[in-house]
Amino acid sequence: MSRIPQTFIDDLLNRLDIVEVVDPRVKLKKAGKNYSACCPFHDEKTPSFTVSPDKQFYYCFGCGASGNAIGFVMEYDRSSFVDAVENLAKLAGLQVPREESRTNYVQESRQKNLYAILDKASTFYQTQLKSHPQKQRPVRYLQNRGLSGAIARDFGVGYAPPGWDNLLKALGQTEADQEYLTESGMLIERDEDHRRYDRFRERIMFPILDNRGRVIGFGGRVLDDSKPKYLNSPETPVFQKGRELYGLYQARQANRALERILIVEGYMDVIALAQYDIRNAVATLGTACGEEHLRLAFKHTQEIVFCFDGDNAGRTAAKRALMAALTSMEDGRQIRFLFLAEGQDPDTLVRQIGAERFLAQIKNGVPLEDFVFEVAAEGIDINSMDGRARFSKIAAPMLNLLPSGIYRELMFTNLAKRTGLSGTVLMELTQEALVLPTSAPKQSHSSQLLGVPTTNSSPSTTANKAAPETPNRSEDGVTPKDTYPDISEPDVDPQADHLADYYSEQFAAQANELPLHELGSQFQQRRPDDSVPAAKRSSISLNPVRAATLLLLDNPQLLKSVGERPLSKEGPEPDLARLYNLIDYLEKRPDSNFNNLLGHWGGTYGLESQQELAKLLASHELTLDAAVAATEPQAVIRDAFAKINRLIQQQQHKLSFAELQAKGLANLSDAEKDLYRELIRKH
Ligand code: UTP
Ligand code: MN
Repeated sequence: MSRIPQTFIDDLLNRLDIVEVVDPRVKLKKAGKNYSACCPFHDEKTPSFTVSPDKQFYYCFGCGASGNAIGFVMEYDRSSFVDAVENLAKLAGLQVPREESRTNYVQESRQKNLYAILDKASTFYQTQLKSHPQKQRPVRYLQNRGLSGAIARDFGVGYAPPGWDNLLKALGQTEADQEYLTESGMLIERDEDHRRYDRFRERIMFPILDNRGRVIGFGGRVLDDSKPKYLNSPETPVFQKGRELYGLYQARQANRALERILIVEGYMDVIALAQYDIRNAVATLGTACGEEHLRLAFKHTQEIVFCFDGDNAGRTAAKRALMAALTSMEDGRQIRFLFLAEGQDPDTLVRQIGAERFLAQIKNGVPLEDFVFEVAAEGIDINSMDGRARFSKIAAPMLNLLPSGIYRELMFTNLAKRTGLSGTVLMELTQEALVLPTSAPKQSHSSQLLGVPTTNSSPSTTANKAAPETPNRSEDGVTPKDTYPDISEPDVDPQADHLADYYSEQFAAQANELPLHELGSQFQQRRPDDSVPAAKRSSISLNPVRAATLLLLDNPQLLKSVGERPLSKEGPEPDLARLYNLIDYLEKRPDSNFNNLLGHWGGTYGLESQQELAKLLASHELTLDAAVAATEPQAVIRDAFAKINRLIQQQQHKLSFAELQAKGLANLSDAEKDLYRELIRKH
């Protein structure tokens, strides 16, 4: 196999001018320092397609299409990457060189080894469930929960026995095997002495399969009430929980075509439903259901039904899912929301009422078109004029997230009917609501954009006053079940069970006044509005991780003048992970520009990830200008790095503290006692 060297692609992109590539295909008009046109990738009457000659990329504010010259040709000509490069090389008068793809080969064989070891791990756990001397405990547990042997087999349910090195001993004979086990998340390696131990101990094991049925990770459940209830594999080269759905493979195996997909909250829900022959349920993996999940599900069906618990946490999760769902509502698709009674989940419900009645309930789910208005009207009296005004301001920008099409049109018509406002006014509102108020700097972008009022908000709560949502707390202080950061291996010590929460709370409080890292990609500002006066814009305070990311994207050379680096952290949240990747790349290639970066990003993380990056920068160009004008960019970056480091260190302290406590004070060495005192002093 031969491939095109990255250096050639960089070189090609450097020689081309994207304007000259686009213009013959789509006539461009100069607009300020950029060019614009009606977007060739979706239907529109006013131009929202922009080409930036500075950054050498294109972006559509209407549909989000974006990329560099190569990406444009691929999309527009519907050609493959290689064909697009050949085509553009001709334009630039270059010959495309080829190289043996050694790195690709190395990468591929590495991945193969990861899949192989994960598969062996799954077999190991299943064998333990059958033959471990203490197998009665897990077997009895599963029986008590009503799981049949057949369904346990179908889903490959297994058992990780108690002990620190069962898997390590069974599968880690060689150093290479141990490395694969570590890289695939099955072993944890201690920082201090590089000693490795089993991540999953004394847990029921649920293997997670990818689209091709390969094991890519695990969820592990305790057999009692200890915490955390579920431990999931960390993100690895073969497992990204943001883009996998538990049970999807089995659902596809069981159905020739999937008329609909049920999205439930837990592993056990998927399995229980399957046992009752409802074989189209999938679950997200301890994370909120995001746009990627929906994109994946909609590849296999036209209809999605969400099942949420009836409690407040479930309701919060439903609102988040709603926001992610809006962008995926292309014509012909359908989404419904089903709320179960408090304390019920699909597992308990189907066992109680049986499949037939469960399916009948599914049919009664609230359609998205109703739920959206329900959410927007929460806490508002829409019989009053003032209430209708507020309602419109919340609903219009939500509907603006819908992709263009008939559904979108109908929804706006519906909103017009409900509010008595004309289409023109509503269109204006979609824009206006995106202006962030200057009076409340702590206000989150997302809640502003979202305008999701709190469940128990008094009628006087206005959209502008909507409480800022911290990422891991719902409004009512209940931790929603849709986010479980797997960061701490907290089962080292049962007392440390709140570490995960602790980390994200601290992070939210200190590093992130705007919890965009969680909601950001879903509620991105669609249209930075030129009409917003610069003075207003400069008051927007970005979350530091985002700010650093944006500044580096905007001007990659900046990194060289910032000495500090953030400590790296395993399994970080997506925004942080992106920042690390960005820094990593810029350290290796300090002289690259945004365009090189975009090319590299597409090659390494995939086209979707590339588009996300371009979208991020494009949708923030204006706020960024203002932010840079207000402060020295290096200082913003340094500040962000420092905040990240403080949090990571705090978290490490907490962990050591918990470890020392677990040992028992009497058993500590003198050095450990010193450390213990030191930690107490610090916190
Ligand atoms: P639930 O707490 O609703 O669990 O979490 P469940 O599936 O009903 O579990 P059972 O019935 O008590 O066994 C829903 C999902 O959230 C994730 C898991 O994916 C779980 O299936 N979760 C939950 C975690 O990742 N970590 C946790 O500590 C808890
Ligand atoms: Mn349950």
